[in-house]
Amino acid sequence: MSLVDAAYARAAANGFGQSCEPEVGRLLAALAAALPPGARVLEIGTGAGAGTAWIAEGLRPRTDVTVDSIEADPAVAAVAATGDWPPFVRLHVADALEFLATAPGGYDLVFADAFGGKIEGLDRTVAKLHPRGTLVVDDMTPVEGWPEDFRAKQDGVRRALLADPQLVTVELAHGSGMIVGVRRPPAG
Ligand SMILES: C[S@@+](CC[C@H](N)C(=O)[O-])C[C@H]1O[C@@H](n2cnc3c(N)ncnc32)[C@H](O)[C@@H]1O
Repeated sequence: MSLVDAAYARAAANGFGQSCEPEVGRLLAALAAALPPGARVLEIGTGAGAGTAWIAEGLRPRTDVTVDSIEADPAVAAVAATGDWPPFVRLHVADALEFLATAPGGYDLVFADAFGGKIEGLDRTVAKLHPRGTLVVDDMTPVEGWPEDFRAKQDGVRRALLADPQLVTVELAHGSGMIVGVRRPPAG
């Protein structure tokens, strides 16, 4: 079974209903495939490992990369940890904001898919992007039935990203609605 199929099967078997949509995963895989040698990838919110699997799938057969994925909930992290991950995937049980504050170095591709680092502390996630690094955020299209406060928070993320002068952004009506932002290099 592929890493991706195994991740969705693991999510279903464990009742985890927040995995990224396959359309989102396909974009992550394509962006991962374009990463430069020695690239570093960060996923905030591992869940059952669907996003991680799409990224790892896009990187195949490379081994020169690092993929850090962070999950705050130990029970959920334990589900993801049962995956048969390639050695370059490092799963961390950590809170996103703590990880962003303490982990050394920056990233070339970031999938911000948790409350921490997206709805709270989005600026810290953007700060972790290398120049020309790419940030992916999903669930940007409001869904009927979302609680009003959640809708407002997602809209706040959307507006903040589209207005961020450090980023070149595009909003995609793809999957759950995505914003892709590339960090501008320094002038000169
Ligand atoms: C939308 S799901 C992630 C789905 C996953 N990225 C995928 O592609 O399938 C969000 C996950 O983030 C985790 N989470 C929530 N707040 C977090 C935080 N502050 N730091 C790290 N993980 C967090 C949740 O426990 C949940 O498993």
